[in-house]
Amino acid sequence: MNGTKKGRILSGMRPTGRLHIGHLVGVLSNWRKLQDEYECYFEIADWHALTDAYDKTDQLRDNIFNITLDWLATGIDPEKSVLFVQSHVLQHAELHVLFSMLVSLSRLLRVPTFKEKIAELRVSELKHKTKKVLEQSAETAVNSFLEILEQYEQGNLDSASYKAVLKAKLKDAFMESLKDAFTGSEEDLPYGHLVNYGLLGYPILQAADILVYRADHVPIGADQLPHLELTREIARRFNSMYDRVFPIPEPVLTEFPKVPGTDGRKMSKSYGNTIYISDPPNEIEKKIRKAYTDPAKIRKNDPGHPEQCPIFAYHRIFNPDEVPQIEEDCKAGKLGCVACKLNLIKHMNEQLEPIREMRSKYEANPQLVTEILNEGEKKARAEAEATMIKVREAMKLW
Ligand code: TRP
Repeated sequence: MNGTKKGRILSGMRPTGRLHIGHLVGVLSNWRKLQDEYECYFEIADWHALTDAYDKTDQLRDNIFNITLDWLATGIDPEKSVLFVQSHVLQHAELHVLFSMLVSLSRLLRVPTFKEKIAELRVSELKHKTKKVLEQSAETAVNSFLEILEQYEQGNLDSASYKAVLKAKLKDAFMESLKDAFTGSEEDLPYGHLVNYGLLGYPILQAADILVYRADHVPIGADQLPHLELTREIARRFNSMYDRVFPIPEPVLTEFPKVPGTDGRKMSKSYGNTIYISDPPNEIEKKIRKAYTDPAKIRKNDPGHPEQCPIFAYHRIFNPDEVPQIEEDCKAGKLGCVACKLNLIKHMNEQLEPIREMRSKYEANPQLVTEILNEGEKKARAEAEATMIKVREAMKLW
């Protein structure tokens, strides 16, 4: 790579499934531009994907293949950038171990993404526990009811006083059975057994990813900033304790439009509201036809609120030229949702077609994809090993 570049970039994604149009207008179009200005390393972070899916590795190979196809199809160019798989370059693991000595446990426990994960795990544990305890309570209650009923069977259930006693007894039995369900506080909900050591070390592994290439720029979303902050701390600590090996990397934050899902919420696989980069034309059509629109606009002539409509958000991305006209006509009640959607489907398919074509070409040639990743691995490993030689020397590990 030549000296006219502004510096070196490393960024990565976890291979968790096919990428959607949010990734396309956010991360990927940004990476595509950066390739011309910087020397770029793009990593498929499969070890990071394991931190919370270590028990579901059947999909991992497919996911790596698919994310590579999505990258290549959207213009991440192996002629310009180094594309590689994290687990193919063992130097990441070596540096991770060495860095793990430089970070205190309490520092890791304070990382916001870790704290969020713990909160999530606690909620699911609480739900699980509550359900279990309530089920047990219900069973205890039913058994007590049956016993009580047996005792009272011989009596006269028509008599009012008899009924009252029975009711009180049943109620007591029920309340008794529920007692367990509502004892216990947050402190009684330990989480240590729910989270593995790998998840705690996640940001240290990310620091190793970045610093093993001595990258000085890292394009990331705002949610990843705490990880970069820790990376910078580790680099400073290492440099002052041993030797100046690492640059202090800077984030590259770019504003890009938020892309809503087809139901207007955040686009996310778990909501089932995603449009994938690789969706075929009929799938795009189906998803757009079904998509949520402004609920206040029932008939064509009702004035609409384009700012709240995902269809309008998609027009901004795939059909920017017509946006002012669409906005005006929608608000004036001159444009119906069906026509608006059909127009969008046409534009989306036009723009996604070259991406799909490129993707199918690579998909039909998995050998070529493997070669690209092997080539990337070689380049990445050479660079990572050069850093590790300096690191081992600085730490007197010969
Ligand atoms: N943690 C990042 C994410 O989930 C993925 C990642 C792994 C990464 N290693 C990285 C991002 C290094 C930037 C640099 O989005």
